[in-house]
Amino acid sequence: MTDTLLPAIAGGPKAKSSPYSSGSRFGPEELHHLKQALDQNTLFYARGAKVRELCVEFARIHGVRHCIATSSGTASIHVALGALDVGVGDEVIVPPITDQGTIIGVLLQNALPVFCDVLPESFSYDPADLERKISPRTAAVVAVHLTGSPNDMDVIFDITRPRNIPVVEDCAQAYLAEYKGRLVGTMGAVGAFSLNDFKHISAGDGGLVLTDDDELAARSALFADKWYDRSAGRSGWSLAMLAPNYRMNELTGAVGLAQLARLPGIVARRREIGAAYDSAVSGVEGLFPVVPPAGGVSSYWFYMLRVDEALLGASRDSVVEALVAEGVPAWGPYTTRVKYLEPMFQELRAYPKSHFPFDNPVYGKVEYRPGLCPNSEKAVDSTFIIPVSEFHSDLDVQETASAITRVGLYFNARRQPSGKE
Ligand SMILES: Cc1ncc(COP(=O)(O)O)c(C=O)c1O
Repeated sequence: MTDTLLPAIAGGPKAKSSPYSSGSRFGPEELHHLKQALDQNTLFYARGAKVRELCVEFARIHGVRHCIATSSGTASIHVALGALDVGVGDEVIVPPITDQGTIIGVLLQNALPVFCDVLPESFSYDPADLERKISPRTAAVVAVHLTGSPNDMDVIFDITRPRNIPVVEDCAQAYLAEYKGRLVGTMGAVGAFSLNDFKHISAGDGGLVLTDDDELAARSALFADKWYDRSAGRSGWSLAMLAPNYRMNELTGAVGLAQLARLPGIVARRREIGAAYDSAVSGVEGLFPVVPPAGGVSSYWFYMLRVDEALLGASRDSVVEALVAEGVPAWGPYTTRVKYLEPMFQELRAYPKSHFPFDNPVYGKVEYRPGLCPNSEKAVDSTFIIPVSEFHSDLDVQETASAITRVGLYFNARRQPSGKE
């Protein structure tokens, strides 16, 4: 190793010497659609055109019959569960490493979240644990495509289809990710997306629901709109079911529509960056990127790496520290703890003054104990993130890739003497 390859923590020059490039996410296209939305003199989705156009376009891109707009990704998943009739006494399978938006709708429907472990390499559900966690009460499985990498859908369907259990795809982090030639969000009964400001595309907040099923589409539209029936030709309505107001307004629809046109370019650039980091890490022992299952193509919401401390010769925290010293804003873990170790689950208290639905006697004794999903717990201690942005220049990507390799090889080299003993 020459002096110039010494990492910054060992006195070498920083690999990332210049600030990362950035750019404007919003421009004339967004303004154009916003102006048109305002010119309609209504911002209500059922009277204006923007939310409808966004939905038509999103469904078209995905080759799916229906898209329903919502106010967030959390709302989209809740809408999916509401449309699927998930309710009291049901169980819904969820992963332990995800945004809480995956889980909130389950509890709002007064159903029980059941956590299924994931495989360390792909963050797809562990099939053995999925088999174990499914019960006669399982009303849905939520498959999260974490970091942009698709879940192993065939493995999930092998287990759910014989039992007629619907799958909800949580695509909040995975716009245009693919699995065996199909886009995520088109394989399960319902696909749920987020337009929050941190996602591939942003409308500030917002969400989209995809389904090919006419009845689920109709129920999703009702569930997202206080069960108001605004479908063509219907007059009057009846409040048949408790449902929230998760409507998207026309301003959000306008921005979402303009953002959608940018999406293919955003994903293509993120894939180039992901490929560069894959190759940077390939020569390092003990650093592993998230590997999509066979036939999977990630859309890289961020780049997540797992550290095998013994193989690499350093802990996750040491690697993050070394990368930060290089000028790379690495951070981790994605979630500070697995979701079931959060106070809500430890105290079994989702609502004030109540332990419902955890104390619903149909479930017996509910307990979310440490060790429930060991791979996920281990991932919290061993993973970290390198941010990915479509605005990063080739130089940014090259320097970041150098930092990864330099830091990784440095730790590998230091490890070897003791590793051989
Ligand atoms: C995997 C996943 N699911 C659901 C959500 C919830 O989306 P929102 O913040 O739009 O409610 C997020 C958002 O971070 C997410 O990453």
